Amino acid sequence: MYGMNEPENSPEVHASDMQSADSAGALPHGRPPQTEFNDGRDYPRLGSFSFRRGTLTDNQEAMWEENWPQRGKVLSDEVIDLDEWFGRQAPGGTIVEVGSGTGTSTAAMAPLETDTNIVAVEIYRPGLAKLLGAAVREGIDNIRLVRGDGVEVLHRMFEPNSLAGVRVFFPDPWPKARHHKRRIIQTGTLHLIAERLRPGGILHVATDHADYAEWIDELVEVEPQLEYLGWPEDQSDIPVLTDRQIITKFEGKGLEKDHVIKEYLWRKR
Ligand SMILES: C[S@@+](CC[C@H](N)C(=O)[O-])C[C@H]1O[C@@H](n2cnc3c(N)ncnc32)[C@H](O)[C@@H]1O
Repeated sequence: MYGMNEPENSPEVHASDMQSADSAGALPHGRPPQTEFNDGRDYPRLGSFSFRRGTLTDNQEAMWEENWPQRGKVLSDEVIDLDEWFGRQAPGGTIVEVGSGTGTSTAAMAPLETDTNIVAVEIYRPGLAKLLGAAVREGIDNIRLVRGDGVEVLHRMFEPNSLAGVRVFFPDPWPKARHHKRRIIQTGTLHLIAERLRPGGILHVATDHADYAEWIDELVEVEPQLEYLGWPEDQSDIPVLTDRQIITKFEGKGLEKDHVIKEYLWRKR
């Protein structure tokens, strides 16, 4: 069901996904950077990326070339000046969504949180193109996109204590035991997210995968900077939108298989 990453394939960036080095939004050639955190915590080990093949239509390419330079960035060591990029000081702060896929819920939520800056982080270029197209077409001004691994993007491109929220919706479950180390929710990622959230900031994770839910259940209390809130019925004191508005692509696939959706919230202390 989780077709964007093919766990069985040796990880590589397909030629169809590469553009010439100077093309907007191209990933740099070679192995993607992977920080050695060396802090005793576990971080997802990606190797490099693997994608289902996907190219953009001519219309999408034209839309991308026109709009990516303003609204998109590729993973780098640039610490993003959010006020400059969004052209404002957002009253609701900035939320980063890691693994936005095709951005269905991102585009549905952003118009309801216009006070907030939304940064969608994704590796998969056709998914980013779909979201970019929706943002342009629907005049959604509070979405920006970063192409790259979410862990490296959070680590390199965002300041500590800078985010109002982080969202991880339906992350790849990597069901085989030998691939569990690739799961994005790990002690290290939770620590990194906690470092990037500002006090009171919210982490929201959702999964439809029972085994991944058990994995996350084991980790809910592991990061001292994060207060685990579970999924409270009354969310009136949660300062960010938690309703996805629309069933995400992968949520829909899970629901078709009668999977139970499990949601998690944490607040930075
Ligand atoms: C199962 S899909 C879910 C997409 C979307 N959130 C949804 O619910 O439809 C997981 C997505 O996370 C992306 N992804 C996986 N690992 C990532 C990482 N380390 N950084 C950024 N995106 C990642 C994949 O490319 C894929 O699009």
